[in-house]
Amino acid sequence: MELHSLLRTPHPALRTPYSVLLTPYSPMEPSIPDLRAEPRERAYAQLLEMQSLLLEGSDDAIAGMATVSALLHHAFSHLWTGFYRVVEPGVLLRVGPYQGSLGCQEITFGRGVCGTAAAERRTVVVANVHDFPGHISCDARSQSEIVVPVFDATGALMAVLDIDSSVPSAFGDADRDGLEKLVAWFARATYVPVPA
Ligand code: SME
Repeated sequence: MELHSLLRTPHPALRTPYSVLLTPYSPMEPSIPDLRAEPRERAYAQLLEMQSLLLEGSDDAIAGMATVSALLHHAFSHLWTGFYRVVEPGVLLRVGPYQGSLGCQEITFGRGVCGTAAAERRTVVVANVHDFPGHISCDARSQSEIVVPVFDATGALMAVLDIDSSVPSAFGDADRDGLEKLVAWFARATYVPVPA
């Protein structure tokens, strides 16, 4: 499906009218496509393009997190999709924008899948959460998980992107590659609120 048939103009989610997209916006149509049946590489390429349109001109990390969470969550019907932000570097993560059921509020570096990805500054893919020592269960339906580190322009860890699935072994190399490309956007975000 062509992108311009997915994002109608003038779509209220776009920061500025996008002149190339000429089809009239229909409020009855969902703006986030169901990409579950698409090959993952193609699905992520489409999401990357939508992200770039939706966040064009923005430097706001929270807006970026909210937008990426919504895109991924609805495109793939994940169980939980969202961000844990670094609020004390090397020490503490706190929940940020997300979609899904309630997530836990804070996670210390080194704990669970999120804390491991944060401490080791690397993507962690967990095929079966029950086999991951220290996995933090926020939803009993969760079977598999991927956590991707998010870096700012200086290379400092800003957050982690956490995705939970009710399907075992839901995530593979294409997800790792696609998600790392999506979170690369955050290197341009200069508005990153730091808690007092
Ligand atoms: N499962 C995560 C905790 C966060 S929730 O799943 C939303 C972990 O082990 O770090």
